[in-house]
Amino acid sequence: MMRPEKKDTELLEAAEKEAVGNGCIFSLVDTWDFQAEEFYLKNGYERMGEIKNYWHGHSKLFLRKKLNSSHFHFLPAKSSQISLIHGWLQQGHIKEWIHGTGLQNTLKGLDKFFRGESTATDWIGYHKDTPFAFLITSPEGPDGITLDVFICDLNYLGKGFAVPMIREFLTSQFPNVKKVLIDPEATNTRAIHVYQKAGFKIIGGFIASWHPVPHYQMELYMKDLLNSKKVIGG
Ligand SMILES: CC(C)(COP(=O)(O)OP(=O)(O)OC[C@H]1O[C@@H](n2cnc3c(N)ncnc32)[C@H](O)[C@@H]1OP(=O)(O)O)[C@@H](O)C(=O)NCCC(=O)NCCS
Repeated sequence: MMRPEKKDTELLEAAEKEAVGNGCIFSLVDTWDFQAEEFYLKNGYERMGEIKNYWHGHSKLFLRKKLNSSHFHFLPAKSSQISLIHGWLQQGHIKEWIHGTGLQNTLKGLDKFFRGESTATDWIGYHKDTPFAFLITSPEGPDGITLDVFICDLNYLGKGFAVPMIREFLTSQFPNVKKVLIDPEATNTRAIHVYQKAGFKIIGGFIASWHPVPHYQMELYMKDLLNSKKVIGG
């Protein structure tokens, strides 16, 4: 990489985004003193080490960058956001999976939550300051929770946000629970793929009372998620 170009930056950013999606927190690269240090420095890396005179008088350089996955934050939904949430749930990509009794239960649950009468919590996920996701958690047994996830703002749908958002939501809000359960419809292959990538495993199947078709029960142990922070090397 002697003369870095725009496409090199795009390639690096794509690799970093993929890494964040896989739970990585650092990116490590090495280069030569005559090669690409400036390129990496411009892209937020810092030099961590140098082996002098590694080859024909040249130094080998090691650089590291902390990958920024923390553009998200999560807050309990506010009653002033009820129209936003109702509008979100009316969108085709969401109605496909939540309708009829399931939708009614969700809306009743939201009202109960705003009245302070619910054990469940309705959450809004923000990217920087933009609300883009709706999540629901409920206590499950002594040390678990259930989770529902919806990427609602169309500008954020299908853009690779789901896995880093789920991981960040759980590690920031529920580091002390033992396990997390989620129950996608068996034909919701996109959600199942995303959940598996986030670390959930299918542990069984059932016919849901709110929509009598096959659903999977999926489970994630928080200790596995918290231990899965990785480093990529370049
Ligand atoms: C499920 C949901 C949260 C995922 O968010 P998203 O923004 O679509 O997902 P992302 O873009 O982050 O990732 C999608 C991944 O699924 C893959 N994918 C897309 N469509 C797919 C399909 N039909 N089958 C399998 N995988 C699919 C993509 O290739 C991508 O995988 P990759 O990261 O390995 O390349 C979102 O689609 C959503 O809110 N759907 C409606 C509500 C819903 O189904 N919620 C789940 C209820 S349990």
